Amino acid sequence: MATARSEVPAVRVTHRRMAEADLAEVAGLENAAYMFPWSVGIFRDCLRVGYTCRVLEVPDGLGGYGIMSMGAGEAHILNVCVRADLRGQGVGRRLMAWLLDEARAAGQGWVFLEVRPSNRPAILLYESLGFAPVGLRRGYYQAVGGREDALVYRLDLDVWGEARARQAGAVRRDG
Ligand SMILES: CC(C)(COP(=O)(O)OP(=O)(O)OC[C@H]1O[C@@H](n2cnc3c(N)ncnc32)[C@H](O)[C@@H]1OP(=O)(O)O)[C@@H](O)C(=O)NCCC(=O)NCCS
Repeated sequence: MATARSEVPAVRVTHRRMAEADLAEVAGLENAAYMFPWSVGIFRDCLRVGYTCRVLEVPDGLGGYGIMSMGAGEAHILNVCVRADLRGQGVGRRLMAWLLDEARAAGQGWVFLEVRPSNRPAILLYESLGFAPVGLRRGYYQAVGGREDALVYRLDLDVWGEARARQAGAVRRDG
């Protein structure tokens, strides 16, 4: 079940559409976060094909980003990343909530994503939002000395919507 944990991060963070002008900074965050990062060209292609590309703004620059494709009732979260010094403060949860709200508002029913089985923080984040494992893609990722499988996770956006409604009700009751 999706939880109704607090989504208010400790740091002031807003989100907006990613622009071409952000790509150098986004690529810097990507290179710092992943051993096998996306190239700038991949991010540029995501912008050009019209994927949902969002950046997080914090007082001293970009705090992270999220990329999602949508279509035929399904959204696919392709990349989420929070700047290393901002992790563990609720920023990733907030970013995911923004993406899930956008997918739901666009009328999608399901959200899918892949994650490395070794990426414990990401898995815990996704499961706490209500994502459940539905499959495995063998050898999906590059890895040191070979390939790593991907776990495929799925979230029912109706369940997400119900959790959001409960959360809004709790906030109203708390004043
Ligand atoms: C995964 C990632 C986006 C999480 O962002 P974050 O801002 O640190 O996450 P949050 O602070 O919002 O934490 C949300 C939840 O994630 C889990 N989590 C986050 N960091 C964790 C850690 N170091 N260890 C265990 N669980 C962790 C927890 O369940 C946490 O909820 P809780 O605080 O209520 O216990 C971030 O670690 C990141 O950018 N990693 C590098 C890029 C990456 O791996 N992206 C995912 C690719 S599939």
